[in-house]
Amino acid sequence: MGDSKGSNLNPPLLQSLIEWDYLSVWKCYGLYGIVGGVILGLVIPLLFSTIYFGKKKSKQRGIQVAFGGDVGFTMRNSRFSELIQVPWEGATTMAALFEQSCRKHARDRFLGSRKLISKQLVTASDGRKFEKLHLGEYEWETYGETFDRACNFASGLINLGHSVNSHAAIFSETRSEWFLAFQGCLRQSITVVTIYASLGEDSLIYSLNKTRVSTLICDVKQLKKLAAISSSLETIKHVIYFEEDGTTIDSDFSGNMSNWAVSSFSEVEKLGKESPVHPRLPYKTDIAVIMYTSGSTGLPKGVMLTHGNIVATAAAYMTVIPSLSSSDVYMAYLPLAHVFELAAEAVMLSAGSAIGYGSALTLTDSSNKIKKGTLGDASMLKPTVMAAVPAILDRVRDGVLKKVEEKGGFAKKLFHIGYERRLAAIEGSWLGAWGLEKILWDVIVFKRIRSILGGSIRGMLCGGAPLSRDTQRFINICLGAPIGQGYGLTETCAGAASSEWDDTAVGRVGPPLPCCFIKLVSWEEGGYMTSDKPMPRGEVIVGGFSVTLGYFEDEAKTNEVYKMDDKGMRWFYTGDIGQFHPDGCLEIIDRKKDIVKLQHGEYISLGKVEAALMSSNYVDNIMVYADPFHSYCVALVVPSHQVLENWARGSGIEYRDFPDLCQKDETVREIQQSLSKVAKVAKLDKFETPAKLKLLADPWTPESGLVTAALKLKREQLKSKFKDELQKLYE
Ligand SMILES: *[C@@H]1O[C@H](CO)[C@@H](O)[C@H](O)[C@H]1NC(C)=O
Ligand SMILES: *[C@@H]1O[C@H](CO)[C@@H](O)[C@H](O)[C@H]1NC(C)=O
Repeated sequence: MGDSKGSNLNPPLLQSLIEWDYLSVWKCYGLYGIVGGVILGLVIPLLFSTIYFGKKKSKQRGIQVAFGGDVGFTMRNSRFSELIQVPWEGATTMAALFEQSCRKHARDRFLGSRKLISKQLVTASDGRKFEKLHLGEYEWETYGETFDRACNFASGLINLGHSVNSHAAIFSETRSEWFLAFQGCLRQSITVVTIYASLGEDSLIYSLNKTRVSTLICDVKQLKKLAAISSSLETIKHVIYFEEDGTTIDSDFSGNMSNWAVSSFSEVEKLGKESPVHPRLPYKTDIAVIMYTSGSTGLPKGVMLTHGNIVATAAAYMTVIPSLSSSDVYMAYLPLAHVFELAAEAVMLSAGSAIGYGSALTLTDSSNKIKKGTLGDASMLKPTVMAAVPAILDRVRDGVLKKVEEKGGFAKKLFHIGYERRLAAIEGSWLGAWGLEKILWDVIVFKRIRSILGGSIRGMLCGGAPLSRDTQRFINICLGAPIGQGYGLTETCAGAASSEWDDTAVGRVGPPLPCCFIKLVSWEEGGYMTSDKPMPRGEVIVGGFSVTLGYFEDEAKTNEVYKMDDKGMRWFYTGDIGQFHPDGCLEIIDRKKDIVKLQHGEYISLGKVEAALMSSNYVDNIMVYADPFHSYCVALVVPSHQVLENWARGSGIEYRDFPDLCQKDETVREIQQSLSKVAKVAKLDKFETPAKLKLLADPWTPESGLVTAALKLKREQLKSKFKDELQKLYE
């Protein structure tokens, strides 16, 4: 899926979210806006403001627990005195949860997808071709129907000859059949291997071979890719592909797949329907998924998630989202091979909610693949809850701000007044916009922004990587709904901490989820101690029901980061550095392995410095590098095309093309100055400010293997790819 899915998460969606014209609202509201804005700004607040009495006492969300002889600082969720492990009694495995939920909600809507109405190729002005889709309304299957189909698929797998003791893998974009196939496998206790779409071919071969996958379930797009490497995929016997509207499988690769039996998803379902097979239900300690994720170094890691892990995380998240029910609608578009999306869909399943499938490329009306004049997934579905990753939200924010900036003048002023007044209200000032004024600002400014995601969002959860405070606040205000941050790695089955719905603070990931404890342990070398004032700090470790079994057939690596304490509790060492606020909420402040000790003994936190330098307009991406044998750091910078070219035009700099511009001394100097400026604002030390830079013209994408699907830097890969450049910077 390198050509499709990895990129799905990122630029295309972002671009599409950015492309809506929020300011066209002025065309209709222009006059009212001008008059209204003035009146609103001055008079209404005095009439309708709720007077704010003092600072609200903050709610206690986490409670410290003391285990006997405990080293470290341990916290649990304040709402539950005991860890929870199931959404309700009896739902101890994903298979049981699925069956019980399907019976309970048999007539409710469950999985929805859109049929293709027409497809056309459009050629852009630069000669590139784009596929534009016209998609129909959502067509739904009930919980009852979904259950029957999953049972049929499970029987079909066995009839096909899949040996129950071997693994199946799912390698596909997010879609309803993914979920069906997954549940089908689990009903026969078949462990499912999942692989991040953005992993390269080598990682794909490595993971499938290592787990000895015998049945591969994929979408049509992946078939070609697999055919090309089929000679390396020795363990595979069966391939099942998801049919797609308007796409047929090529007959010309069947030769290369001669040792594979290839069937379509519906053939397998039919096979199962004709001769049902008894289910072979799993135990809670059985491995449900082996999830391959990109290690930030070298080969991918296969994390073993048990049934117990997934249901515990689902149970915990259900307590975070208030009154989640069958009237909620969830927009599913993130990759299901990510633990975050998998957990989110497990939560929706537990609540009996509807899940509408879409893709990042078709999410909004102006998405890349949506035919002009037709509806994107979100406007068709009108979801009430959504999951997101920071990279997406960051660029939405930048896109909105850019549009505002481009319009300039009065429109820009009005946006900023509205924004500031909402901000003040959220931060608890009586000068903020409350009551009627809030409603009016919503109509004038925010309603249109909200409508790009369907207009019904009542909450959003962001995970996968840290979300910046600014972005969290921005999206919160523009969407007018809580946007929480979840914290959880694949190793803790996405379940570690999550901010709570009524918590308006930003930059924190909330208290521990009720399925686990979170403990801080001192890291002396890095200078983070649990005795630190005003807040205890240290490495974040997680213990409880969401902690997974470890890495598949890699005991050494497992023992490095999963450790048993003398009470028999297993803890996963995340490598993240956190601090606990007095109300029990966790804030992630650093990353252990990103800290380098320089020649003179100063510690430099690469992640912290990068986050600070990202605020320069010139920087699209940056990796700070520190050689421990020197006393200063250097940086690789991918500059923003637009900003840099604007500057070059303004400064009369002549250049052939963008790579040429990046070569120029003046350019490097200009960006260096900009970095020094933001470094000063962020109060970075001199040794933390890159002494030299190399500008790189090509962006870093998941396909190039330089960043993860969540756009986190892969330092080792970047270091080896740009070895020579880095070396030159130290000459
Ligand atoms: C698959 O794994 C086996 C060991 O289990 C190894 O001998 C073989 O070389 C691997 N094949 C590929 C293509 O990586
Ligand atoms: C079949 O395999 C050969 C060698 O493994 C490769 O060169 C060729 O491109 C493959 N054909 C198809 C259609 O994938």
